[in-house]
Amino acid sequence: MSELVKKPLFNPEGDIEVTKRKMIGGNTTNLNDFNHMKYNWVSDWYRQAMNNFWVPEEINLSVDIKDYKMLPAAERRAYDKILSFLIFLDSIQTANLPNIGEYITANEVNLCLSIQTFQEAVHSQSYSYMLDTICEPQERNAVLYQWKEDRHLLERNEFIGNLYNAFQEEKSPEMLACTLIANYILEGIYFYSGFMFFYNLGRNRRMPGSVQEIRYINRDENTHLWLFRSILMELKKEEPWLFTAEKTEKYRSMIREGCEQEIRWGHYVIGDDIQGLNREMITDYIQYLGNLRCRGLELEPVYEGHEKEPESMSWVSQFSNANMIKTDFFEARSTAYAKSSALVDDL
Ligand SMILES: [Fe+2]
Ligand SMILES: [Fe+2]
Repeated sequence: MSELVKKPLFNPEGDIEVTKRKMIGGNTTNLNDFNHMKYNWVSDWYRQAMNNFWVPEEINLSVDIKDYKMLPAAERRAYDKILSFLIFLDSIQTANLPNIGEYITANEVNLCLSIQTFQEAVHSQSYSYMLDTICEPQERNAVLYQWKEDRHLLERNEFIGNLYNAFQEEKSPEMLACTLIANYILEGIYFYSGFMFFYNLGRNRRMPGSVQEIRYINRDENTHLWLFRSILMELKKEEPWLFTAEKTEKYRSMIREGCEQEIRWGHYVIGDDIQGLNREMITDYIQYLGNLRCRGLELEPVYEGHEKEPESMSWVSQFSNANMIKTDFFEARSTAYAKSSALVDDL
């Protein structure tokens, strides 16, 4: 397959047989048939994503209004810059996921991408709600469009934006695979300097409402990571030529580059000026995450000697996992999916 074929829309001649279904290059009918799925993990994923439904405005931010004014200058700067980057990531995800879906010919996977797109929109809206609540409209706009003044932020946004734009220019299976890897990196590495900063605020008993918003977002992002890992692993089975040693090496170097950028960004926005965090902790944690993401795709680690979660950072997973719904990425299934949309707060 040298060219990627866009999925047809109304296609009565499409294949109904599950055995003929393919991640790319299939002949889909686009019928939402929940009873005949090829990819078993989709039903677990779908159930979990639905159970994760939440509404940003239901989280009380009244303490954050007072806390934000009292934040030490370094924390306030980091809060604004991190939020600005997260807003960009969730916005570009909302816009780009439908582009990916246009070339995925497994309808059940497209259903998942539609739910993910909705969740990314909710995430962008939650940042808006946070900013509208804690600061004046002028400050809010300055945070939203901070990439216009901050070249570090612009550089970061450009990197991911250019990767996504490349798929707009060239619709090839290779470029789709790179876009899927870029998504996997975005969902599994890029959010994490931000998450760790917010959870550190939580440890320091500051901005409790913002921390709670981030925990809900983090829970969704975990399922997005699960989705993209699963798509990539299915693609590896169906289109092994997209995973030759040479191409795999390229994916590994993309993951490494993603980590390097996240580390540089973490050093820039957090540095050594924030109580409870420092450059070394950021580096160790992101390197560990990079290896974890490689392992998720059965790739060799990118940072030797960083296979275990650094002890100094164990509190991050306590915040992000303080939840009855845990996701086991390596098993590609949820370990519990009780009917619940609320985080169980045992912190
Ligand atoms: Fe998101
Ligand atoms: Fe996401």
